[in-house]
Amino acid sequence: MSFVATRPALSHKMPPSSVRWVTRQLKDPYVRERSAHPVKFRARSAFKLMEIDNQYTIFKHQDVHTVVDLGAAPGAWSQVVAYKLGWLQPASHDKKVKLPLSASISGFGVKEYIPERWIKDGPAAEDEFLDPLADLDEAEEVPQQRGRGAIIALDLIRMSPIPGVQSIQQNFLHEQAHAYLDALLKSTPGSNGMADIILSDMAANATGSRAHDVGSCLEIAESVFNFTKTHLRAAESIGRRRGGVLVMKYFAHPLMAQFSKELLEPNFHYVHINKPRSSRSESSECYWICMGWKGSAV
Ligand SMILES: C[S@@+](CC[C@H](N)C(=O)[O-])C[C@H]1O[C@@H](n2cnc3c(N)ncnc32)[C@H](O)[C@@H]1O
Repeated sequence: MSFVATRPALSHKMPPSSVRWVTRQLKDPYVRERSAHPVKFRARSAFKLMEIDNQYTIFKHQDVHTVVDLGAAPGAWSQVVAYKLGWLQPASHDKKVKLPLSASISGFGVKEYIPERWIKDGPAAEDEFLDPLADLDEAEEVPQQRGRGAIIALDLIRMSPIPGVQSIQQNFLHEQAHAYLDALLKSTPGSNGMADIILSDMAANATGSRAHDVGSCLEIAESVFNFTKTHLRAAESIGRRRGGVLVMKYFAHPLMAQFSKELLEPNFHYVHINKPRSSRSESSECYWICMGWKGSAV
């Protein structure tokens, strides 16, 4: 039976926004790939970081030890980093991969993967990046091994554990969060209190007011930059011109371009703008890939 035949069954139980969301997820090739990938990523956002790494080669250098992941929940980017640093051994390809999408073939069971509250209210804005087909428990089935370095993840919301990842539940915009990160970095052996890579996929919930949303994006970018100034290892001390990397999400706007011109471009040897193929075309999200931190901000 095709998925089309399941729509009427879904539509009488859920509001139209939920049906649209589920339909889009089920058609999305990255959602399918997520399920089939041996690491069983928690969200399709994993593929954005995989694409960025394929293009700019940020993780494979042996001098990369300490990675900070800001706005990390539900944990797909942290899983990518843990995988790249050798903390996650992909499950055997011989092992039968349980495909949650089988629900779309039979037309039965889809609702089992959808939070009950969605059936009543539809997805909330913050659910946009969550994949209701994800099964967080599956991630813990992946055999554990010792990787290199350490990954420190921070988010407003709680994250299920990932091998090699220490997570903090904090608001990054509060000073206290920087103090926690600082303490964790200082207690990470070999890091000297500094990160080799800082990732930020943080985004405030959209309010519908363009001016307000740009203001939030700018506030996050400024806070990430301030943290970078004190906690990113410089290219010179790493001994690689592209060493000391910041990957940061932003939403395209002239004020963000000005932010890059005034703060990022003078302080990194290279600043690239990237829109991964796996980033939805209707979203104005882009990523700055800033490589080669010069060390003391100008
Ligand atoms: C797009 S999601 C990140 C997805 C994540 N990279 C992944 O692959 O699983 C954005 C995250 O930013 C977090 N966030 C937004 N503002 C934040 C803040 N001020 N402090 C900490 N986390 C924040 C949200 O809670 C949300 O989990």
